Amino acid sequence: MFGMRSNAKYNYHVLLLLRQLSTNSTAFMKKEPNLMPLGTLQMRKLNPLPLPHRTVPEPKGQDFDYVNVAHSHLIRSDWAKLNSLAAGLTPFRIKHILLKIKKDPVLSLEFFDWVELQRPNSHTLETQSIMLHILTKAKKFKIAESLLKRSIIPKTMNSASELFDCVLYSYRACDSSPGVFDSLFKTYAHMKKFRNATDTFRRMKEYGFLPTIESCNAYMSSLLNLHRTDISLVFYREMGRCRISPNVYTLNMVVSALCKSGRLEKAVEMFKEMENMGCRPTVASFNTLIAGHSSQGLMNSAMKLKTMMSKNGLHPDIVTYNALLNGYCKEGKLHDAGKIFSEMKAVDVVPNTVTYNTLINGYSHYGNSEMGSTLYEEMLRNGVKVDILTYNALILGLCNEGKTKKASYLVKKLLKENLVPNASTFSALISGQCKRKNPERAFQLYKSMKRSGCHPNADTFNLIISTFCKNEDFEGAVEVLWEMLERAMTPDVNMLVEILEGLHKCGKAEAATRLRRELDGKQLLPEDFLPA
Ligand SMILES: *[C@@H]1O[C@H](CO)[C@@H](O)[C@H](O)[C@H]1NC(C)=O
Ligand SMILES: *[C@@H]1O[C@H](CO)[C@@H](O)[C@H](O)[C@H]1NC(C)=O
Repeated sequence: MFGMRSNAKYNYHVLLLLRQLSTNSTAFMKKEPNLMPLGTLQMRKLNPLPLPHRTVPEPKGQDFDYVNVAHSHLIRSDWAKLNSLAAGLTPFRIKHILLKIKKDPVLSLEFFDWVELQRPNSHTLETQSIMLHILTKAKKFKIAESLLKRSIIPKTMNSASELFDCVLYSYRACDSSPGVFDSLFKTYAHMKKFRNATDTFRRMKEYGFLPTIESCNAYMSSLLNLHRTDISLVFYREMGRCRISPNVYTLNMVVSALCKSGRLEKAVEMFKEMENMGCRPTVASFNTLIAGHSSQGLMNSAMKLKTMMSKNGLHPDIVTYNALLNGYCKEGKLHDAGKIFSEMKAVDVVPNTVTYNTLINGYSHYGNSEMGSTLYEEMLRNGVKVDILTYNALILGLCNEGKTKKASYLVKKLLKENLVPNASTFSALISGQCKRKNPERAFQLYKSMKRSGCHPNADTFNLIISTFCKNEDFEGAVEVLWEMLERAMTPDVNMLVEILEGLHKCGKAEAATRLRRELDGKQLLPEDFLPA
């Protein structure tokens, strides 16, 4: 969205915003209504539905006797006598016994488990709901959650809102508390079943129940983990309408969601609002914003934020430094990256695997495999864990410079460390052989990659194919291209044009025609493409 705008201009815009932040004047900001501070939002009129009242028929006759006898054994913990009654258990009797002991969550749970043990599958959704009410009323949320996860939710996955209804209808009989719905909502969120969580939230609201901020955060966090930034922002607005006050964790997630969806300006605005909303930005808030700017190459703003962080008495940590390194490396500003790297060491922030991998990757991409090797040795010396990403970055750097001997030495090393080379490793090695104009060896590597069960992704395929093209080995390129097409991946258009032209040039018209037919059928060529 701001890809259209130059970075310099954006940097300027953000600097303005940041200057504002430090002077704390708010007049300048044009506020977006949908992300305004919650306090200023109009409260939507909520007309909660009344809680349904379902009369529970009292036990009579034999049921009455059974419930009373079992109850008297229970309160004396006379399990031997209870065991002799197990054969007579029915859902109706279980329910009434639970209702009689509902004030004692420990005894209730013992009884509940005992029933499960004596008569497996005799619990119904109703007896389970009653157990949930008892546990949540006693604030035993962990146990309630594990009961939900272990048995209740897996059994009700297909029965849409049956569980909610059952909890709702037993609410009054159990003299329950709103925590029961909160618990249900939060458990769905923890289980990453966000549709069910959303449904639960919607139905809770109908009856005037609102989740706690902790549960809302759990929900937002599971949405962000699933990359559903859109829904998480919609939910945040909904929280505002319901007057659920966010805390600093909520706001950090909102800033993060905005950054991840590329809306940096809004993220900065949100960040700026945090303090007005009574939440001081934390290290995590700054890190989110710094990572957002760094990943877009907006390094001036990112550095400005780091300075601001220190002015606020917060210390940049490993996450801050790794984000900055990532930004500088992506931009090819390795000199700046080097300065950040020295700085972090000077302030005793210990570089980790991510730090080194980021740097090695940067140096490898910009033709300085020597520096990559130096860093690798430093890792080994300092006992920093080396992983496949480290090796892939080093190998790519060496292969880019045609240093295939050193690269194959590293392959041996990584195998010795029980790391598994993947398609990225192979594609680097293949490009190394191509660089050395050794198509035979490159093709052998391609074959051994397939033998070892590596699945190249679209990027890797494109890299391998274009490597063959650069070497003018168009037949090799076509062979790999066919496999890419078989896997329904989309090749790079320019590369396709290059291959078709190449095939014609080296007199392989037949192969070109066959490929052309396939590509036309899949509409992979630009409309205005004419045969060479
Ligand atoms: C949970 O969501 C799934 C998928 O949308 C749906 O099939 C299921 O009925 C829902 N279960 C409950 C208990 O709401
Ligand atoms: C190889 O493994 C690394 C680390 O897990 C991963 O980031 C990379 O995407 C993998 N390459 C391919 C082509 O799958």
